Amino acid sequence: MDALKKLQWFVFGAVLMSCLQLWLRRKQTGTDLGCSNPPPRKYDRHSSWLNVPKIWREEMERRVKHMETVCRDTTHSVDGSSARTGFPPMLYVDDRHRLIMCSMPKVGCTNGKRLLYALTGNVDMKSFHNFGSGKKVVSYKRFLPRLSQYSPFGAKLRLETYLKVIIVRHPLERLVSAYRGKLEGKGHPITGEAIYIAKRFETNPTPGMLTGKEGVSFQAFIDYLNSLDPNKDYNDHWESYIRLCDPCQIHYDVIARLESQGTDLNMMLKLIGMDDMLTYPEGDLPASSSAVWKKYFTEISRSDIRKIWQHYELDARLFNFTLDWY
Ligand SMILES: *[C@@H]1O[C@H](CO)[C@@H](O)[C@H](O)[C@H]1NC(C)=O
Repeated sequence: MDALKKLQWFVFGAVLMSCLQLWLRRKQTGTDLGCSNPPPRKYDRHSSWLNVPKIWREEMERRVKHMETVCRDTTHSVDGSSARTGFPPMLYVDDRHRLIMCSMPKVGCTNGKRLLYALTGNVDMKSFHNFGSGKKVVSYKRFLPRLSQYSPFGAKLRLETYLKVIIVRHPLERLVSAYRGKLEGKGHPITGEAIYIAKRFETNPTPGMLTGKEGVSFQAFIDYLNSLDPNKDYNDHWESYIRLCDPCQIHYDVIARLESQGTDLNMMLKLIGMDDMLTYPEGDLPASSSAVWKKYFTEISRSDIRKIWQHYELDARLFNFTLDWY
């Protein structure tokens, strides 16, 4: 009888101890999302910028300076969406590492997002670069907070103190990527737009095109884009960098380019002190390499290219992309 009582007390004590331990641990880490987020520390620019090679640091300074100069000197309004609706829609926040990343569709966004999922602890860091197909990446979407979801005060505080990163690629290359992913051949997902383009811009639309079962020609896509009103919002996949990421208001610290994304994003990891935990795959090349995307434009007339360039010219100038190959 006595032994049983002792056992009961022992079990009771053990349970009490582990509850106490659990409570203490929660209190220490404060990872309870929503109610006990620690106030963000100021992003320590100076010390962490000393961790990256000088040559890369100077390259970033050049890119940022160039962007700021274009923002300052541009004559037409550089009104991104933040002027109208608060903060740009594509800004994602990682509070653990005090990072804000603008990840646009069709700019290696799947990989950028994978990196963010790993950083925010929503996928395994060891296998983040192959944790599944594109579809699976989409299913994680709700775990990435956007800056626009924070209070105005919280968003402003984070913009002032976090490392801000944007990934860019040549705007015309991005168009080819959007076309190939969304409007080319069979099995494209944007049916409504494809039917509209086929009806209005295809000279000889096939029955498949008119029912949205088949994609449209690149020429028809370009004609469609040239018909759009630049004062209205486009589909995100061909919306301008200005509207999606608002570079002139956000003042990015790191401008990563798709052609050097391996280096650029690994250096970014160094800046936030995560390079020993995570490595961005260096050899991750975009689906449409330089030769491939330029080939699409060889079928487009010079005047059409000039016209389309006008839609994306400011995007291009901000990030030093030119039309010199044409
Ligand atoms: C812009 O691009 C040109 C070549 O295309 C290069 O010579 C120049 O250094 C670049 N400028 C910046 C700020 O990166």
